[in-house]
Amino acid sequence: VPIERMRNFCVIAHIDHGKSTLSDRLLELTGTIKPGGSAQVLDKLDVERERGITVKAQTCTMLYNHKREDYLLHLVDTPGHVDFRAEVARSYASCNGALLVVDASQGVQAQTVANFYLAFAQGLSMIPVINKVDLQHAEPQRAVEQLKSTFELEDPVLVSAKTGLNVGGILPAVIERVPPPEGSVDKPLRMLLIDSWYSTYKGVVLLVRIFDGVVKQGDQIMSVSSKLKYFVGELGIQYPTEVATASLRAGQVGYMYFNPGMKNISDAKLGDTFCHVGKEVEPFRGFEEPQPMVFVGAFPTNQDEFQKLEDSINQLTLNDRSITIAKESSHALGLGWRLGFLGTLHCSVFEDRLRQEFGGSELLITAPTVPFKIVWRDIGKNKAGEDGPKETIITNPALYPEEDVVRTKVEEIQEPFVLATITVPAEPAEFLGHVIELCQENRGTQVELTWFSTQVILKYKLPLLQLVDNFFGKLKGITKGYATLDYEDAGYMKSDIVKLELLVNKEPVDAIAQLCHRSSAERLGRMWVQRFKSFVDRQLFEIVVQAAIGKRVLARETVQAFRKDVTAKLYGGDHTRRKKLLEKQKAGKKKLRAIGNVIIDQKAFQGFLSKD
Ligand code: GTP
Repeated sequence: VPIERMRNFCVIAHIDHGKSTLSDRLLELTGTIKPGGSAQVLDKLDVERERGITVKAQTCTMLYNHKREDYLLHLVDTPGHVDFRAEVARSYASCNGALLVVDASQGVQAQTVANFYLAFAQGLSMIPVINKVDLQHAEPQRAVEQLKSTFELEDPVLVSAKTGLNVGGILPAVIERVPPPEGSVDKPLRMLLIDSWYSTYKGVVLLVRIFDGVVKQGDQIMSVSSKLKYFVGELGIQYPTEVATASLRAGQVGYMYFNPGMKNISDAKLGDTFCHVGKEVEPFRGFEEPQPMVFVGAFPTNQDEFQKLEDSINQLTLNDRSITIAKESSHALGLGWRLGFLGTLHCSVFEDRLRQEFGGSELLITAPTVPFKIVWRDIGKNKAGEDGPKETIITNPALYPEEDVVRTKVEEIQEPFVLATITVPAEPAEFLGHVIELCQENRGTQVELTWFSTQVILKYKLPLLQLVDNFFGKLKGITKGYATLDYEDAGYMKSDIVKLELLVNKEPVDAIAQLCHRSSAERLGRMWVQRFKSFVDRQLFEIVVQAAIGKRVLARETVQAFRKDVTAKLYGGDHTRRKKLLEKQKAGKKKLRAIGNVIIDQKAFQGFLSKD
């Protein structure tokens, strides 16, 4: 098939508007898969099947006959959720057009808006598709008008991916409205690395887009950035599983293995340009590496299982390099791991998978937090006499400087903000009021408020820290599930951040400490002490649970002793008793931990950290 008869396009939509179902129909229609087979062929990860959401972009090649000519179509199913925006942006780089899918009963939603602008910025030709017209409460006409008034998009294709109604109208529209890829088979090879993942049997797999030239099995190619050379082992198209071909030509998207294989998946730099050895070409602009913005600590309840936890984490991060991993040691929880994620959904999806892999009851996961920036008053000198950094980013409350250091050496503390786009139905009117209230409670500032016939689109600047505290859940709750949310990074801004600590008989419990805004410290502190009290076992002596900022106590609860015994307090400090308990702990009762003179069962931490 010559390049004029190739079309590369992606499917973009708000979550649940039917992207994956529609992709399946298109694959059936072109005979790429058998009708009625397993649902959602393109959603390959288990987590995607379980949650029914697309996390990684998936691709498939199709052959389609239009007006008696064969066309080679390449379809990319992209994730709809904001956390995976980098994934979405990368997949656009291989496409010239996009199907913008909108649910006929819901109309334009936050991620429709966000994805539209991303695709628009990349110059993709857009074909609006209104899906789910079979639904009883579908209002396709309203969706048609919204697409026109919001994005100036006309001539939508009205379909039902579920029943197959009019799905046949989509591919002719793709061929007529999406331009073929540019490029020439006669020019030197210029190939872009779009994605890579790890296959248990064959090692590192690369997903590439050929812009110019032809690449064949056995060719020696080179990474323009690292200058490392490789031989092409096997290559081909995803149809929908790997089908080897003799070559990949300008315009095509396909998979590739090197022989010998790439050793580390980290050598496969997404956005890297490849060429034939000796025929160097201009590199592509590359992709921005997404930065992790949500962090949690993960600890085994039984310290003997530290290695097992490490194995589970390694297993699960094999195909997701956006997760950062570092060892962490906590006085209260022992040895564990600090994990960084792109966003809250990314984090919660991983948490679910890790609990499954590792055993739910055996794992402690701390409350999510975000990075904070500390701007120092003077640039310090390190031991070698060089200037130290002016700013430090900390992703763990344990690294927050002591109070007096903050007072004397820190110029300001900054926290990350996002620009959130929220859509709310205009009726009932109280929804809008609730949403504005929620945003204000969460320290938001309104940037924009736009009315469409049936929808209101709000833009708010919000601290990311507020977003990780189940903002999405609350938003859904106050709007009966109708509001939608999308956000983008808005940089760091100065903020009044404090470190809130939980003290047990005056000893801080490090794993629970959190950096929070001064205005929410008291409420959070009260909640902490009550919650901790409810989970901790009574002991022979009184336990005082406090929440404090530095030396200032904000809340306090007391766990009464077993019996009112004048000697009880003495037992608490009793050296031999404590020693005995610690020995017992060593001897196998590894689930007990000592905070000062108080022995706490890991179950208490588990209860405290659990989400209910
Ligand atoms: P993400 O991958 O999470 O972004 O979702 P998606 O956009 O791929 O949506 P998906 O295809 O998983 O569909 C979401 C739900 O809508 C599923 O329960 C589908 O069965 C249903 N659905 C999809 N298309 C139609 C349709 O045309 N009519 C009806 N009634 N339901 C549909």
